[in-house]
Amino acid sequence: MLVSAKEMLTKAKAGKYAVGQFNINNLEWTKAILLTAQEQNSPVILGVSEGAGKYMCGFKTVADMVKAMIEDLGITVPVALHLDHGSYEGAKKCIAAGFSSVMFDGSHYPIEENIEKTKELVGICDELGLSLEAEVGSIGGEEDGVVGAGECADPNECKMIADLGVTMLAAGIGNIHGKYPENWAGLSFDTLDAIQQLTGDMPLVLHGGTGIPAEMIQKAISLGVSKINVNTECQLSFADATRKYIEAGKDLQGKGFDPRKLLAPGFEAIKATVKEKMELFGSVGKA
Ligand code: 13P
Repeated sequence: MLVSAKEMLTKAKAGKYAVGQFNINNLEWTKAILLTAQEQNSPVILGVSEGAGKYMCGFKTVADMVKAMIEDLGITVPVALHLDHGSYEGAKKCIAAGFSSVMFDGSHYPIEENIEKTKELVGICDELGLSLEAEVGSIGGEEDGVVGAGECADPNECKMIADLGVTMLAAGIGNIHGKYPENWAGLSFDTLDAIQQLTGDMPLVLHGGTGIPAEMIQKAISLGVSKINVNTECQLSFADATRKYIEAGKDLQGKGFDPRKLLAPGFEAIKATVKEKMELFGSVGKA
């Protein structure tokens, strides 16, 4: 069932667990995540960055593929199709294409402009019954080979954005996208605590889920995180399994070059990673 992320995240916040957002890149990725969610009876959020949307031909192709796959595979658990780190224009395009959820990342704008643009999107999403994620405090990560540190959001700014009526709020707490550097200082739980105190029931979103130790994930959930984004970790497990298949020369045996065989180990590896995360986040059996 394609649904907005609102109900699943309200339940997650109240039940002290988190729903995973897993980013998709192609048909195999999408199928692996949907089947795992169904097997684990877990709600799930499929994340699509603007770049991945473009790679998959456009947001309409993505939305139509996901809807058709839900039907063909008989997926009955709640699934949200969500734009990840969207621009204002990208959010509007995804809404038109049939996404059930969007993120508008205005964290790089001055707070007044972030508020103004987020507010307009709250109105549009409310009218259509879609969920909206906003962001305060930009999330670091690797850009051109340099790993930028994650910012810590100002809790008062978080409250201002939360009060606009967004569905969920991503706040920088020292987290970054991609692999964490050796000298990473860890998540700032003081910041998270202060944000949750001010924003109350608002489901908080933790980006950069790859490589955060299990104890930190659990502590973050206990302090109000209800959605955790994972992207790189699925890419790493897919690449690792595919490399092993090729290195073992399996593509040279029989019809091992058939893409349905060649991509199978990577597909299974994504499934295993998603299952492990759903268990860690506590969303198994919560559909
Ligand atoms: P990772 O790639 O670090 O898992 O981050 C994913 C993410 O936050 C997508 O928005």
